[in-house]
Amino acid sequence: MRAIEWTGEKVRFLDQTRLPLEELVVTTDDELVIIDAIKRLAIRGAPLIGIAAAYALVLAVQRVKHPTELLPTVERTATLLIATRPTAVNLSWAVQRMKRKALMLLHHPLSEVRSALLAEAIAIHEEDERMCEAIGQHGAAILPLAATVLTHCNTGALATGGNGTALALIRTAWEQRTLKHVYIDETRPLLQGARLTAWEVQRMSIPCTLITDATAAFLMQRGIVNAVVVGADRITRYGDVANKIGTYGLAVSAHHHQVPFIVAAPTTTIDPNLERGSQIPIEERSSDEVTYCGGTRIAPEDIHVYAPAFDITPHELITAIVTERGVASPPFSVSIPCMIGETEGVHRVEEGAG
Ligand code: MRU
Repeated sequence: MRAIEWTGEKVRFLDQTRLPLEELVVTTDDELVIIDAIKRLAIRGAPLIGIAAAYALVLAVQRVKHPTELLPTVERTATLLIATRPTAVNLSWAVQRMKRKALMLLHHPLSEVRSALLAEAIAIHEEDERMCEAIGQHGAAILPLAATVLTHCNTGALATGGNGTALALIRTAWEQRTLKHVYIDETRPLLQGARLTAWEVQRMSIPCTLITDATAAFLMQRGIVNAVVVGADRITRYGDVANKIGTYGLAVSAHHHQVPFIVAAPTTTIDPNLERGSQIPIEERSSDEVTYCGGTRIAPEDIHVYAPAFDITPHELITAIVTERGVASPPFSVSIPCMIGETEGVHRVEEGAG
């Protein structure tokens, strides 16, 4: 099944916290179940949490009995959704898009609002699926021949409405026979690489090797890897990238060893309102995610923990940013505004740059 689906009346999703040991499918008509699933990473990955948020708003509006309850319900649910995870901009992008739709139809019959919101959520889901396909095609074209790629976290079908972002690129290159091997970072602390990417890549029968995060720089030093490909949770208009903690370290190593560092994401991950990575809010997770592994405590009681879920890779360390619209190259302060159709942004950045 897809990571999330609309069944006709309810939402069905795979609880990713249980993978790869168990494929637990949850079916719900309660938006609070979706909100909780996003918080605990049962539903995760920047594009997927946007899609899930859109469906959560559909569920909330399904239970509205009187037109006067519509706006308060949308506002309340939108606030709860946006508070779940602050870094990935796809979430607030999808919530705002759904809110705009609801506001446009405020004085229409409730049945009409419900079907329009459902159509909008399905459109967000299907558009993401198509974006993944295009990212795969554009990205595969810039990989070196006989590519041995290193990837981080999970950016596949479990994280998106389609085949993924960085993982779609890897999959397309494999289908085009330009990919030789994939190294998968385990991605501490929640092991999205070991649990989810390894599961997905194995199911695609792509030759792969799981490594600890600490092994990545050594692989690059040995010349084993000739491209690093990652996803993103938010990209600023200057090309700074927030992604899973550990991405920045990979970019520094890749730069040092002259290995291309490629970021793949849909344009819905670009935040045109932000210029610098330091403006991106970084989510901090519970200390338990570091002090426990697989339910077993691995650190002394009362140890102080710092657990940012994401880090910022500055644009200088990035070779290319692949979206569904093509490949942006440095200087990103010019290519990104162009890519999202903001020519006035280009002037503004150029003026500021001097
Ligand atoms: O905390 P997660 O698992 O939601 O983090 C996911 C990532 O960092 C991904 O790399 C990013 O969302 C891109 S998914 C296509």
